[in-house]
Amino acid sequence: MSETIFISENSSKTEKYEQLLPQLSHLLLPSDDLIANLANCSAALKEVFNFWWVGFYLVKNQKLILGPFQGPVACTSILPGKGVCGTCWQNAETIIVPNVDEFPGHIACSSASKSEIVVPIFKNNQVIAVLDVDSEHLAHFDETDKLYLEKIAAILGNCF
Ligand code: SME
Repeated sequence: MSETIFISENSSKTEKYEQLLPQLSHLLLPSDDLIANLANCSAALKEVFNFWWVGFYLVKNQKLILGPFQGPVACTSILPGKGVCGTCWQNAETIIVPNVDEFPGHIACSSASKSEIVVPIFKNNQVIAVLDVDSEHLAHFDETDKLYLEKIAAILGNCF
């Protein structure tokens, strides 16, 4: 498959996700290297949606450790239950944060980040990583992002 993502001009958010999903299914192969897949996935999401920050934290030694991402430099390690990512890991469910300043314990890697969504990635019913997407706009994420980012997380769960 060609390493190019094609999205029709003037597509709605749902249409973009609908076009992206099958392309990611072909791009993110379990037979390929995990880091390569996570790097390509973050690049594809950044390219299509121009998110402020998009990337992964991987569960290692009872912590979340920064993985491949696109955007400004970020904190390297998050403890369980800390910040949005650590809470998502602990609760094993997606969290949408319309205003990060109103989320108790939010870890501010970049003061430009205003809202975020964090989606757990499961393998054998355990959270093994989280997908973290940040926006410089308030209330940027909704149930459509949750629906499709969870589908993308399911593709990635097979790659670990
Ligand atoms: N916002 C996250 C920290 C990671 S950065 O946004 C990249 C959190 O509170 O978990």
